[in-house]
Amino acid sequence: MTAIIDTDPGIDDAIAILYALRQPDLGIAAMTTVAGNIGLSVTTANALRLAALAGAPTPVHPGAAAPLGREPRPETGIHGNDGLGGVVLADPDRSAEAESAVDCLARRLTEAPENSVDLFCLAPLTNIANLLTSAPAAAARIRRVIAMGGAVEEPGNMGRAEFNLAHDPEAAAIVLHAGLDLTLIPLDATRQFRADAAYLDRLRACGTLAASTCADLIDAYFVQTAHQAKGAESRPLHDPCVPLFARHPELFRIETRNLQVDHDGALVPGPHPIRVAMGVEADALRARLAEGLGG
Ligand code: BDR
Ligand code: CA
Repeated sequence: MTAIIDTDPGIDDAIAILYALRQPDLGIAAMTTVAGNIGLSVTTANALRLAALAGAPTPVHPGAAAPLGREPRPETGIHGNDGLGGVVLADPDRSAEAESAVDCLARRLTEAPENSVDLFCLAPLTNIANLLTSAPAAAARIRRVIAMGGAVEEPGNMGRAEFNLAHDPEAAAIVLHAGLDLTLIPLDATRQFRADAAYLDRLRACGTLAASTCADLIDAYFVQTAHQAKGAESRPLHDPCVPLFARHPELFRIETRNLQVDHDGALVPGPHPIRVAMGVEADALRARLAEGLGG
């Protein structure tokens, strides 16, 4: 398998990336970055820092600095001004690539055999929409898209909608309505996947820098001071669900719903049959995540 991660790190993106880069079977060939949780220069620098921490040679290609036709709306209240909740990572060991995210996606999709490249989408879908409109022949070669985004029956986390779709509703509509092989992992699933203080201890006992860094990241990802309360759980571990789904699809309850994206980025009934994850086996997912970060 070959996969490209499109991301806006982002605390939960960072956990997803550290997990994914440790799984050789996922074949992460590149990362593309986008404005979302924080601006593009920070998401790109964070992706480079995460690749360095993982000891991975993964190239990082900067993409869109703003949504299609809207202003960026960074989520600094959750992810902080550094995108990583104040968790300091070592400086990157190299620079971002000169080749843009869309050019990288188009080139790799064209060079690889048809239907052999997956896209793991952890962020607003601006780069993927730009690929679909500027290089449709390359986009037609995508094997499948697994995207964290949307809220089906759950309330949104940005008004009625979920952040990744709400940040760039026009891009979300282009991608979700394109007829791609798409699995969406919405808040309905990710809100079931959280960590508590005991899980942080478990990660710290793994003995790897990736696992202890994820423990620090999750610690920064509790609702402020709530981690001091016994049994409190972190915010949802949204983005790690994407690479975990790629490796352990049996731990997700998948349904097909007829949906479309409205002007606010909310999922509403519509004509597009989309596979959505409506539930997860959270204990098993937590175990798989710890295993993947440790040892
Ligand atoms: C999504 O929005 C971002 O804040 C997270 O990184 C995740 O991708 C959750 O709604
Ligand atoms: Ca994200």
